[in-house]
Amino acid sequence: MEHGTPLGIGIVGVGGIALSHMAALRTMTSAQLVAVCDVDAARAAEVAHAERCAGYGSVEALLADDAVEAVIVCTPNMTHEALGLQVLAAGKHLLMEKPLAMTPEGARAVADEAAARGLALAVGHSHRFTDQSLAIREVIDAGEIGTPRFVRVVMNGGWIWPGWQAWVLNPELSGGHSLHNGIHIVDLASWWIGEPATSVFSVGQHATSEALEIHDYLVMELGFASGASAVCEISRGERPRSAGYLELTVVGTAGVVSRTWDAEGVLAWTDAGLTAWDIEGSAARVFLRELEAFVAAARSGAEVIPPVSAAIHAVDIAAASEASLREGRTIAIGAPA
Ligand SMILES: NC(=O)c1ccc[n+]([C@@H]2O[C@H](COP(=O)([O-])OP(=O)(O)OC[C@H]3O[C@@H](n4cnc5c(N)ncnc54)[C@H](O)[C@@H]3O)[C@@H](O)[C@H]2O)c1
Repeated sequence: MEHGTPLGIGIVGVGGIALSHMAALRTMTSAQLVAVCDVDAARAAEVAHAERCAGYGSVEALLADDAVEAVIVCTPNMTHEALGLQVLAAGKHLLMEKPLAMTPEGARAVADEAAARGLALAVGHSHRFTDQSLAIREVIDAGEIGTPRFVRVVMNGGWIWPGWQAWVLNPELSGGHSLHNGIHIVDLASWWIGEPATSVFSVGQHATSEALEIHDYLVMELGFASGASAVCEISRGERPRSAGYLELTVVGTAGVVSRTWDAEGVLAWTDAGLTAWDIEGSAARVFLRELEAFVAAARSGAEVIPPVSAAIHAVDIAAASEASLREGRTIAIGAPA
């Protein structure tokens, strides 16, 4: 389809996160939601009616719709590899919600398929697109804090997922907390340090209940070949449940850049003094930026954000973190493909 015409988007799985994508799409002129599907056909019909697009009860029907040029997969983690391969085999560009796949092999299989077919493959590492994450990266790129040596990412809260039946709580379906939420923050750490992680050591707790099969409280310690390191802490087990705590800190050889939960914005301090960046923090802008980058990749071959190699590496780290939790030791991570 020629440029200037909105890219026709189909969404597979219209649960929680699909709402954020649909809200962003409503504000875009470069892309348009043309179809949705869900195994819950009634839900697909309801969303299709509200969004004035086609609604299907199967992915096959959605992929057979010629108006669909690109697909956002918003289904549970265990479906990603098979659905991703199916979308690409149908010749559609793919924005896969994180994680790219449940296993390093699966992630590579989807990436290889996209490359072989010359289709855009983006992965929904939405935290790369927040105002605060981008501001921190800008400070690093400007050389203001020298070479990054240590990253601390803390994203703690007290909300348990929708209920005890939620797929997220089943490690067979979500891949565990490292792969589910942890993948966001290990990706940030590696991005800010500027190199792939080479090792991970993780400890976790079942803070909400011993009956939990995933570690709702999780700390992942990353090592890097340069000697840099990172501590990535994520929790859904805080008390009270309404508690929320955020810290994003990068310590460099010449200064520190940090964002904490009660800060007005991002702060950088160096020998030259303190600089503050105002951050509005609109969540809506995060998905808009993510989708705009995806549309540019689908339309004109622009590089996806993050690069596919980084999305694969994030799966490598997360899978190694789960192995570390099981085995109680540091796990080496291979070099990215
Ligand atoms: N980027 C982010 O910040 C972020 C936040 C939340 C979730 N996610 C990711 O988004 C994905 C979806 O999470 P969610 O919280 O929206 O889940 P959800 O359970 O709310 O919604 C999933 C939907 O997919 C449907 N579905 C399941 N299997 C399907 C299939 N084979 N074909 C079609 N539809 C199917 C379900 O019926 C449901 O409506 C997950 O991969 C999750 O990791 C990303």
